[in-house]
Amino acid sequence: MRPIVVVHGGAGHIPSERAHGSMGGVCAAVKAGYSLLTAGGSSVDAVVEAVVNMEDNPHFNAGCGSVLTAGGQVEMDALVMDGRDLSSGAVSAVSNITNPVKLARLVMEKTSHVCLTAGGAAVFARQMGIQEVSTESLITEYSRARWKRNQEPGANPVECQMGKMGTVGAVAVDSEGNVACATSTGGILNKMEGRVGDTPCIGSGGYADNSVGAVSTTGHGEAILKVVLARHILFHMEQGRSVEEASDLGLSHMRSRVKGLGGVVTVDAKGEWSARFSSNQMAWAAACDQTLHWGLYKGEHFTEAIVQTL
Ligand code: GLY
Repeated sequence: MRPIVVVHGGAGHIPSERAHGSMGGVCAAVKAGYSLLTAGGSSVDAVVEAVVNMEDNPHFNAGCGSVLTAGGQVEMDALVMDGRDLSSGAVSAVSNITNPVKLARLVMEKTSHVCLTAGGAAVFARQMGIQEVSTESLITEYSRARWKRNQEPGANPVECQMGKMGTVGAVAVDSEGNVACATSTGGILNKMEGRVGDTPCIGSGGYADNSVGAVSTTGHGEAILKVVLARHILFHMEQGRSVEEASDLGLSHMRSRVKGLGGVVTVDAKGEWSARFSSNQMAWAAACDQTLHWGLYKGEHFTEAIVQTL
């Protein structure tokens, strides 16, 4: 099987001054994941590596750069899933760690549970030797400024939540034909404390099953949860739809049924891939056959043969 990694940096509106950084970020993340795959790493290794890369990049709403809650705090969610046996791990409402996706992987590999939240997740992180970091180290000037703007009288919280979404995610197929997904987010701007979105919920924020494929989602979490977007797309693939058709059907169902916008990256067990979105923009990148693909706007697709070993 040819190894493939596809990543997204969040669906929504990307201000023009941030577009370059978002594109550079998704391309760097996909290269990091692909490099592991071509060196013999597993699909789980690749999706976690790609997502860590974006959590560490302040351009994205995940890890450092996460949006803030109404109270000005950082509460992050993450998910990882292994298509070989449907093992999965997730964390919700975690603070004070740099890479929630690594903690999600530890939940998958070291516990008998699927999801740990808030205080319990923090205790588990300490037990696993994960270093605690200050909230301040996760907050960028950009995220604080957006939070402040939306505290002002006259701010439109619906616009701020629906129009400027973001989450990062990855799907991969390794040379053994195993699929995996990982997704990570700071959630939605000015969310209530304790709000949990789609990202850590298997079937919504992502799903991976070797018998069908893998999906990682981004967009308005409440809408994604209502239609169980990732599993919905895989259902269409089980009915014989291509990755692209199934992704579009899932997104259009979410739009018509609950007026939700978003985006997805999808792979199937045969090694086909797609990056589709119903929002204005979504930074995405894919790597396969030593070739890098990327885009930001609808209909946009750039391709470059990667000469160096990734
Ligand atoms: N899709 C990310 C969130 O709504 O939390």
